[in-house]
Amino acid sequence: MTRTALITGASRGIGRATALKFATAGFEALGLVARESDDFTETVDDLRSTFDGEVIAYTADLGDRGAVIDIARRANVDLGGVDVLVNNAGYTNPVAIHQIEFADFERTMAVNLYAPFTLIQELLRSGNTFEVIVNIASTAGIKGRSGWLTYSASKAALINMSDVLREELSLYGTRVACISPGRTATDLRVKLAPDEDPTTIMQPEHVAEVIGMLLKPVGEFIDSENLVVRQ
Ligand SMILES: NC(=O)c1ccc[n+]([C@@H]2O[C@H](COP(=O)([O-])OP(=O)(O)OC[C@H]3O[C@@H](n4cnc5c(N)ncnc54)[C@H](OP(=O)(O)O)[C@@H]3O)[C@@H](O)[C@H]2O)c1
Repeated sequence: MTRTALITGASRGIGRATALKFATAGFEALGLVARESDDFTETVDDLRSTFDGEVIAYTADLGDRGAVIDIARRANVDLGGVDVLVNNAGYTNPVAIHQIEFADFERTMAVNLYAPFTLIQELLRSGNTFEVIVNIASTAGIKGRSGWLTYSASKAALINMSDVLREELSLYGTRVACISPGRTATDLRVKLAPDEDPTTIMQPEHVAEVIGMLLKPVGEFIDSENLVVRQ
């Protein structure tokens, strides 16, 4: 069976590890999304050197709804439909409530919640029914943490949205998985916990391994209702 995937936040961390994992997972074409950067160029080049199929890079700011709609439309045409969507891109600016700028709260919601929503809605409206949607939330969305208000709230909403989508899209045979990783050694984690030694915590490849497992036939038997992945 030919399969295509679209992965957001593919330039670094969990998204990059997932893209490299998908290179050997039987896909025909992979679409990657991130803003323009040396990291993104490197990931795309690395993937092209290991993957036989087509790699299409979409550079966009996922905080911009118009750009998200554009990616959904282009990816549907370029990839010939999206079988697997991994909504992985995430943004955080951890500050105490007194310091939160409302515009930054809106940006957090735009990247972490509205972008996944918009990609899914636009692709559905184009007639694309997915095989699997994987939304990357966080354990911070299960239990809010002091100083992480905007991030925790956005991830809680993503977990809940995934529950709704799981029920609503079962009609099409679409599996909707939500994964909540715990602390993982990436740039985003450094922002949340600058003093932590990254060698002592989970690595992005571990999360990518679990995402890969969801796509295998056995994935059908995994209860994907907010799957917690942590040490
Ligand atoms: N690391 C952890 O401990 C942890 C724990 C729980 C959940 N998570 C979640 O895991 C996911 C991946 O994060 P990560 O830990 O792998 O962090 P990361 O290494 O910092 O990667 C974040 C990714 O999101 C992309 N991104 C952020 N803002 C964007 C925007 N406005 N437009 C387009 N792309 C944007 C980044 O691309 P650019 O190159 O454009 O910046 C990058 O590819 C996130 O949803 C995060 O919340 C992480």
